Amino acid sequence: MSILYTTGRESGAGHESRTAAVESTPDHATAIAHPNIALVKYWGKRDDSLILPVTDSLSMTVDIFPTVTTVSIDPQVRADTVVFGEEPAPEHIRARITRFLDLIREFAGASGHAVVHTRNSVPTGAGLASSASGFAALALAAATVYGLRPDRATLSRLARRGSGSACRSVHGGFALWHAGAGWGADGDHSSYAEQLYTSEFDPAMVITVVDDRAKRISSRDAMHRTLSTSPLYLAWANTCAADIAGIRAALGCGDLDAIGRIAEHNALGMHATMLAARPPIRYLSPKSVAVLDRILHLREQGLCVYATVDAGPNVVALCHESDAVAVAAELGAAGEHIRTFIARPGPGAALVSGGGA
Ligand code: PMV
Repeated sequence: MSILYTTGRESGAGHESRTAAVESTPDHATAIAHPNIALVKYWGKRDDSLILPVTDSLSMTVDIFPTVTTVSIDPQVRADTVVFGEEPAPEHIRARITRFLDLIREFAGASGHAVVHTRNSVPTGAGLASSASGFAALALAAATVYGLRPDRATLSRLARRGSGSACRSVHGGFALWHAGAGWGADGDHSSYAEQLYTSEFDPAMVITVVDDRAKRISSRDAMHRTLSTSPLYLAWANTCAADIAGIRAALGCGDLDAIGRIAEHNALGMHATMLAARPPIRYLSPKSVAVLDRILHLREQGLCVYATVDAGPNVVALCHESDAVAVAAELGAAGEHIRTFIARPGPGAALVSGGGA
């Protein structure tokens, strides 16, 4: 069967086509996606339910810790079932995934509950959020099984509705998430990630895990509190456009030094907005600061290495691939029980089976 359908009006220049061709619909699909680390952070939503950010953000998708997700439609089941590894997912996660599948079903005009099997390869307790790779893989597998063939921009928009940063993991390499403009449908249609052009260079990230416990305040709550109470929030948000422009220019000529300099001040600025929130939010721990000190020390010795930190204590160092082993050794020695993982630019979300993979 081959159907062509249109999900809505076409948007203006720079917006994606919203037309998708449905050829044959498999009864299951498996997709793989990798996490991404932001160099210009997403911090703050202008719309909580559609997950529309205040600012543009820019990231690198990595080549480690993939999530592999299979979605099967099962007419026998009376509710969506979600299995993480070998275990049934906790109820709050199952409910979040069901809400996301409802969105895909609505978009596709489809019905039927699903069985979702998902497997993260992040080492247990590595303190790395897997929601970006998780929702990018889920969006692709679910869209395929419910008969959609979304283009990359539409897939990115769908993934965004699961977890904001997931919209960037749809793409490999470096991706820019356009905040988009407006609210409602206009905001939704204009807020998606695109892959960025880069010239030949050899970036690597050293993911430095200093603490593997779950954070005490979720990024969702922390963003909310920062936006509503931090007097520094707007000052930081107003720097993001220039930071994006600077990194885009530096990606175009492979200037890792400029990329790192901008990424570091953008991340530390984001943490400053949280420290000024009321009550304050402090994700950085003494060990994070010890790692940041080592990065500064390495830089003073002439190495090109810069830091970025998400909403947690773990520090990610950006450096040349040729320096990554030395950087990892130095950062791993910053304190007890610190683990390091070296990552390079990774691929975008892809189908492993189903839907003509
Ligand atoms: O997508 P979320 O809700 O997990 O938020 C991610 C926020 C940061 O990781 C702190 C920054 C970013 O841009 O990834």
